[in-house]
Amino acid sequence: MTLTKISFGYGFLIILSICLVVGLSQNLKLGWAINLFERFGYLHITMRVMPRNDTKWIFREPSVEIFKDIESMKKTELLSEGNSVFHGNFNMFFCDDLHELFKTYFQEFSIERLDEPWEAFLENFSNETLAYNLGINVSYVSGDHCYVLVKITRVRDKISFSPEFEALNASVNQAVLDKAETVKLGDMSSLWGFVKTFGSHYITSYATGNSMYQVIVYSQKIYKKLRDKIEKASGFQSLSNEEINFLFSPQFAEHMGNVLTSSGNETLLDWAEESLNSSYTVPADPPYKITYSNLLKLYRNSKLLKQLEVLLGNEALLHLKLMTVGPVFKDKQIRDWFLEVLDNNLKLWEVN
Ligand SMILES: *[C@@H]1O[C@H](CO)[C@@H](O)[C@H](O)[C@H]1NC(C)=O
Ligand SMILES: *[C@@H]1O[C@H](CO)[C@@H](O)[C@H](O)[C@H]1NC(C)=O
Ligand SMILES: *[C@@H]1O[C@H](CO)[C@@H](O)[C@H](O)[C@H]1NC(C)=O
Ligand SMILES: *[C@@H]1O[C@H](CO)[C@@H](O)[C@H](O)[C@H]1NC(C)=O
Ligand SMILES: *[C@@H]1O[C@H](CO)[C@@H](O)[C@H](O)[C@H]1NC(C)=O
Ligand SMILES: *[C@@H]1O[C@H](CO)[C@@H](O)[C@H](O)[C@H]1NC(C)=O
Ligand SMILES: *[C@@H]1O[C@H](CO)[C@@H](O)[C@H](O)[C@H]1NC(C)=O
Repeated sequence: MTLTKISFGYGFLIILSICLVVGLSQNLKLGWAINLFERFGYLHITMRVMPRNDTKWIFREPSVEIFKDIESMKKTELLSEGNSVFHGNFNMFFCDDLHELFKTYFQEFSIERLDEPWEAFLENFSNETLAYNLGINVSYVSGDHCYVLVKITRVRDKISFSPEFEALNASVNQAVLDKAETVKLGDMSSLWGFVKTFGSHYITSYATGNSMYQVIVYSQKIYKKLRDKIEKASGFQSLSNEEINFLFSPQFAEHMGNVLTSSGNETLLDWAEESLNSSYTVPADPPYKITYSNLLKLYRNSKLLKQLEVLLGNEALLHLKLMTVGPVFKDKQIRDWFLEVLDNNLKLWEVN
């Protein structure tokens, strides 16, 4: 009886002291660590990277403050506080298959020791959910199709470490160092104990804002022709508006996806539906008209771009770079082993 009481009290005290020494947060914070394994394959439920239909948040993955005194190492560009320049630059990506489309969508995301960062976000999506998030009909999520991703992005805030920051030399919270010392070479449970408490990866840079995007699906044959044509024309810029409207329309495409935003904001979707509508008359007998949204309507259209500039707020995660917490292990042998175990486990996840 007494024993139980004592151990209970002791455990309580330890928890309390960790909370006092180490900050816990569900906000995006530079240098804070998350446990990548906790939600591997469905990180989209705690990081807003694709449209979501719920209340306002950008990041809600539990994170822990592992470094201390890093404020002076922080580089902040708050573009949301006025005077940022919105060029309305279009990005068009030619993706030979679905895999390339995922890689492209997540190209601003990187996770140390993971070759395909998109897997941490999307691996556990069903085909229906993938189709919904890409704005395309589920019948185009399988089979031999090619894709063009059109994307227009507005970055609002950009936070990163200054070049002087050196993780191995940074000061680490005492509670983290203490726990790191409990990790014994070859003792898996001590290692996972550390990861459960203080995480596996920490945030080394991030950017927030919003983007609008559209996926256009092509058959392989037409896609190759289209790509050749654009390459021959030495890029997109030399094409006339008419040519662009023609090539990226239902006349050539198998399927025009919906225009979406990374944040899922309904106001933007309504605007897109109203402002980006286009139509095409199918020369059948009798001819019939199909209407669709076309993000490329914004191209060279300064009036629409000005409207969109105001609408793209600070609502989604656009860039994230995660590095392993390896540097908090001061013993090189333990650190190397820790990284090896992370490596093996991430490879295991990738195979699944
Ligand atoms: C979005 O949310 C609304 C209400 O909150 C709900 O009626 C609707 O079904 C949701 N849509 C999707 C696609 O989840
Ligand atoms: C995610 O997918 C993998 C492999 O398909 C599976 O083993 C795992 O249980 C899934 N996780 C969840 C939370 O659905
Ligand atoms: C998806 O495409 C199939 C066949 O092309 C069609 O029958 C179906 O109605 C489409 N679904 C939606 C939601 O548009
Ligand atoms: C989902 O799509 C993949 C290809 O992207 C396909 O291999 C798989 O059969 C699809 N699953 C279902 C349930 O249709
Ligand atoms: C890290 O600290 C060590 C020892 O204090 C020093 O030799 C090394 O130059 C430092 N590295 C950086 C990048 O500051
Ligand atoms: C787009 O919608 C607006 C308003 O609903 C309409 O006036 C316009 O003609 C439509 N444009 C096209 C190309 O369908
Ligand atoms: C959606 O965007 C509009 C326009 O930028 C903004 O006023 C509104 O607050 C946003 N809504 C949410 C839920 O973020």
